[in-house]
Amino acid sequence: MSSPQKKQVELSEAAKKPELKAVSKKPQIIRPSSTALMVAMAREQIDPWGVRMIQTIPGYEAAFEKKLQAFSIQINDPLMPYMSLKDKHQRLLSRIASPYYNTFYAGRIWAVDTEVTAWRAQNKAQGKKSVIFLPGAGFDAKAQRYPQSDDLLIVEFDMPHTQQIKRQALQAIQTEKKNVLYYPVDYTNPEDGKRQFQNAMEAVQKRFPQDDLAFFVSLEGLSYYLTPEANQTLFTELLTILPPGTKIFTDWIQGTNWDASTHPYAQFLTFLEEPLKTMPEDFEKQITAGLKAEGKIIREQSRINRAEVAADRLEQTIGRTCPWIKADPFGQIVQFSVFEII
Ligand SMILES: C[S@@+](CC[C@H](N)C(=O)[O-])C[C@H]1O[C@@H](n2cnc3c(N)ncnc32)[C@H](O)[C@@H]1O
Repeated sequence: MSSPQKKQVELSEAAKKPELKAVSKKPQIIRPSSTALMVAMAREQIDPWGVRMIQTIPGYEAAFEKKLQAFSIQINDPLMPYMSLKDKHQRLLSRIASPYYNTFYAGRIWAVDTEVTAWRAQNKAQGKKSVIFLPGAGFDAKAQRYPQSDDLLIVEFDMPHTQQIKRQALQAIQTEKKNVLYYPVDYTNPEDGKRQFQNAMEAVQKRFPQDDLAFFVSLEGLSYYLTPEANQTLFTELLTILPPGTKIFTDWIQGTNWDASTHPYAQFLTFLEEPLKTMPEDFEKQITAGLKAEGKIIREQSRINRAEVAADRLEQTIGRTCPWIKADPFGQIVQFSVFEII
């Protein structure tokens, strides 16, 4: 039984930490990833599924509107209050990130789809089933865009709440596909990441017990949100769990000229409550030398600059060259790499 004296000590200890008390009382904010929504909106022209999903999320528009409104005050744009949500979003991003940001996100889909198409044709020729892992899947719509097929399985991993909201949205527009598996995960917790990869692999083996399998991992837009350590762990896990021949696509920020405290795009992500982290500083060195684990090694097979792929995409669309996109500083520092486990 505690004495009156002890009780007094406890009270005065608590009184010394009022800020801790305040934090623990604050209700936990539950929301889908703002940047997953933002990216899906940005590429509406080539992938309308993301926006269709988002439009079903109750309260989404009001919540996003509030954020944009607050940010428009920060950037002091008198027109912002009078524009539609989509206009505002586009204008904001075009101003603070890059005038070509839509093309950048379109370019990423284009880069991944080109790789996946070639890989699937090869799998078909070799009689293999295709398994695509999507860590940090967000409102990605590969399952909707790629024709449903018995020889294709898509496995999505994401933060629990974003994934749950996405699944509700898919049900609302009645496009949930049978060839998709979902695993909630938080890659800032290495055990969670490992466990869910293992669970996914078991489910894949159950789905295709007799078949030769080929794996493709697409880490689109995920590396920026993880600490260097978490990125490192994620790559090591993939290397450990997946067989040789697996392809891994990722986008990543090159070099040290991306300063998360001053770059406007980084500030925008922070504003959206998704602070930007970076790959390990020596990521490029590591991938050039090849990451190693369990007797396997990851090697970079090809690399394409984001500004170049974006320019290619736009040139194909409008039928003339776009050198200004190639020169855009934001596009220049982002690379798309395809790795292979050997
Ligand atoms: C910019 S979005 C990209 C979404 C999607 N890959 C795309 O390209 O449309 C980043 C995604 O990473 C997910 N993410 C961020 N941090 C994560 C973490 N620690 N664990 C798992 N997923 C995370 C977010 O929930 C979000 O869906």
